[in-house]
Amino acid sequence: MTSIIFSFVLAVININYASAQIPSLGKCPPVEVVQHFNVEKYLGKWYEQEKYPTIFEIGGKCVTAEYSANPNGTVKVFNKQINILTGNPSSIIGNARLDSDSGEAKLLVRFPSVPFQLDAPYWVLDTDYRKYSVVWSCFELGPFSARVVWILTRDRQPSRDIMEKAYGVLKRQNVSKAFLMKNDQKDCPAE
Ligand SMILES: *[C@@H]1O[C@H](CO)[C@@H](O)[C@H](O)[C@H]1NC(C)=O
Ligand SMILES: *[C@@H]1O[C@H](CO)[C@@H](O)[C@H](O)[C@H]1NC(C)=O
Repeated sequence: MTSIIFSFVLAVININYASAQIPSLGKCPPVEVVQHFNVEKYLGKWYEQEKYPTIFEIGGKCVTAEYSANPNGTVKVFNKQINILTGNPSSIIGNARLDSDSGEAKLLVRFPSVPFQLDAPYWVLDTDYRKYSVVWSCFELGPFSARVVWILTRDRQPSRDIMEKAYGVLKRQNVSKAFLMKNDQKDCPAE
């Protein structure tokens, strides 16, 4: 029973992130996030380069995340992808807010179209706002934790240099690179 509930909750989290997670035994490891986070500079479009493997995005390429300001001070999240098989675009809209006034880059994201409302953590481990962002999300469930890492870039085809910077962030914070999978950003429709 517990495992059914666990699977269900994981599936829900998956939908919520529009992604799957790496379930691990043990608590979420400590990580450091950006301080004095500048939300305005973070807005705009990001291209997903790599992330921990996905279930709901399998078959998805050209994944983008676009952040913009909502009138009420929250951040609109607009995630888009192209189905590899059909070529059809799909998208999901969410809402993000800072977890506190501390200036730390710890956000909570919610997708209203998902039946089970959950605030998913979205922590920015490092970003230069102009080229790359490394995002971490970890969720504890009993003895397990589910982890996601994203490498987002401003360029659809980032230079090797930029990716090395992002990998460096993971290395410094002891976050494994081993599970990262590339998102296909080639032959994407014109925007
Ligand atoms: C802010 O506005 C967005 C978009 O209209 C809405 O989805 C969200 O629930 C609002 N959040 C708060 C805290 O009012
Ligand atoms: C990273 O892992 C190494 C080896 O396990 C450990 O010695 C080090 O303290 C860790 N660093 C951080 C920032 O957690």
